[in-house]
Amino acid sequence: MKDFENRISELLAKMTLDQKIGQIVQPERQFVTPEEVKKYHIGSVLSGGGSVPGDNKPEDWIKMNDEYWAASMEEDEDHLAIPLIYGVDAIHGNTNVLGAVVFPHNIGLGAAHDPDLLERIASATAEEIAATGVEWTFAPTLAVARNDHWGRTYESYSEDPKIVSEYAPRFVKGLQGNYGEENVIACAKHFIGDGATLHGIDQGDMCISEKELRKIHVPPYKAAIDAGVLSVMVSLSSWYGKKCHAHKFLLTDLLKKELNFKGFVISDWDGIDYIDESYEESVAQSLNAGMDMFMITEKWKEFIQHVKTNIKNGRIPMERLDDAVSRILRVKFEFGVFEKPRPAERKLSKDPSCFGSKEHREVSREAVRKSLVLLKNEDDILPLKKESRILVAGKNAHNRGHQCGGFTVAWQGVDDTDESKDKSYVMTDSEKEKPRDKTNNGKTAHRSSIIGGTSIWEGIQRVAPNAILNVDGTKADPAKHDVAIVCIGEVPYAEMLGDIRVEGLRKGLKIGKGSTADETLPGEDIPIVKKGPYGTHLYLHELHPEDLETIKNITQKGIPVVAVMICGRPLVIEQELTETKAFLVAWFPGSEGQGVADVLFGDYRMQGKLSFSWPRYDDENWNVGDEGYNPMFPYGYGLTYK
Ligand code: BGC
Repeated sequence: MKDFENRISELLAKMTLDQKIGQIVQPERQFVTPEEVKKYHIGSVLSGGGSVPGDNKPEDWIKMNDEYWAASMEEDEDHLAIPLIYGVDAIHGNTNVLGAVVFPHNIGLGAAHDPDLLERIASATAEEIAATGVEWTFAPTLAVARNDHWGRTYESYSEDPKIVSEYAPRFVKGLQGNYGEENVIACAKHFIGDGATLHGIDQGDMCISEKELRKIHVPPYKAAIDAGVLSVMVSLSSWYGKKCHAHKFLLTDLLKKELNFKGFVISDWDGIDYIDESYEESVAQSLNAGMDMFMITEKWKEFIQHVKTNIKNGRIPMERLDDAVSRILRVKFEFGVFEKPRPAERKLSKDPSCFGSKEHREVSREAVRKSLVLLKNEDDILPLKKESRILVAGKNAHNRGHQCGGFTVAWQGVDDTDESKDKSYVMTDSEKEKPRDKTNNGKTAHRSSIIGGTSIWEGIQRVAPNAILNVDGTKADPAKHDVAIVCIGEVPYAEMLGDIRVEGLRKGLKIGKGSTADETLPGEDIPIVKKGPYGTHLYLHELHPEDLETIKNITQKGIPVVAVMICGRPLVIEQELTETKAFLVAWFPGSEGQGVADVLFGDYRMQGKLSFSWPRYDDENWNVGDEGYNPMFPYGYGLTYK
């Protein structure tokens, strides 16, 4: 980082207490107006997943952020001009916005083993964000997911810190570049151990030693910090029962002092709510632990009051608040926001042709091709011949929403049925009001659309003229079909709603803090948002029995089946595997389904390798390097064509 210390101290010296406190607050866009941004000196605003302005086109975002920004830049006797930064969850493309290119989720990118590609994806994503007038994305996720039951496994590149550490700096560089107008601020998240909670419970308790923490979970952050990542988001989880949001050792001693992180630390979605029963006390504990900016979606005015009280009664030292503000200003200076034109006047806002562009779609399609992992290929049935008479089936064959997974135009992802496809989607008023409706378990049809790209079926159709689509496979006819491609697997989900929570844990199973499963259930003794789960077992035939049914509708007629599985984690697939000739894992590939066809028909080679170990049974939790390691498919597995 350059030396901005003089500029920082000059500005800080001019700031009143109200101005300083406002700088550390980040409300959600629905709960703050541009007038309030000025009145309360707000430093940042965010969009939660699915919280979108107007008709959700790039111009709507530019207009919105331009208004917030203009309010933050007014200068008068009560207000200093300090540019606001706007944050979004662009975790696999700028996917909140209609028409953005959706890249494969991180788990697929891990299988691609291609750091150069990662940097290109990050640059393309940065451009699509900048084309909407936004400056900051809450990415990359640097979780090293150690338990496939976790609903956010797909946000993790690998169970192996090596891959995550190799990718982290490249993604940060791709986003932040040289801080130009085509770049955005990156945010490494969720610090730390989000992927290490007991039983993979989202926001749960991490019960591992400091030695293991340092070996597995710290290295990706070290790599991102060394590459200059400007912000870090704290995990909603705990470490041996203590919330990371109030963990001074983790935030100050480890992250800031030892890892030498000079940017600012942001809390996750209302993450300080669960620290203490008293909100005033939670605010003090978190700030004192080292939190710099606070994502307080709705009750930010209350938060402001509590910081003020805590400062006045000495519970929060003024130096700590000054340090938090200085860190935020340092990032704003470093990224050059003070010097950048207002959002509406920036280069890519004026020419947003890169948004959803053909070039970006090509990068995503390449990523899809490289991420596919082939688990089985009996009799070398793959690659398929383009002229074959192919039956395409399965609920995920022709559904761009499903193949994109969570975090798209809706937080929990979307279900793109034929009816909604290609129609410009406008949110209903009630959807706008409840963008993160946590009662939506992600399995219900969500009226929305992924604009652009191709479904897997559309991709196949473009290259194989004799292919037909029949979703449930009941029209399978050996006289008419040589082979079938059946697209099975998971449907979109996000965060805790994607957890697999095993019912009735084995008696005596250690669940941390010295307790065993018959005494208490994990997560019960620490307050978390308990929503979901997606299911109670990792078995695909239990989660989605319709898949095996579709496959059998076809195999019973003697037609060989090639399975293509959409999923956010390894699932137990023994039955489906037995029933099919070939089995391809496509993860959540994103909008460019054409990439699947590219490889199925041999136009490109099959090259993906598992970045996660593949379990045989539900109660296995293998990670590469474990003692007695014996998964169904080991880490690094992946067949190629002869
Ligand atoms: C998630 C974060 C996300 C934030 C803002 C939280 O619930 O844990 O990953 O960046 O919401 O939408």
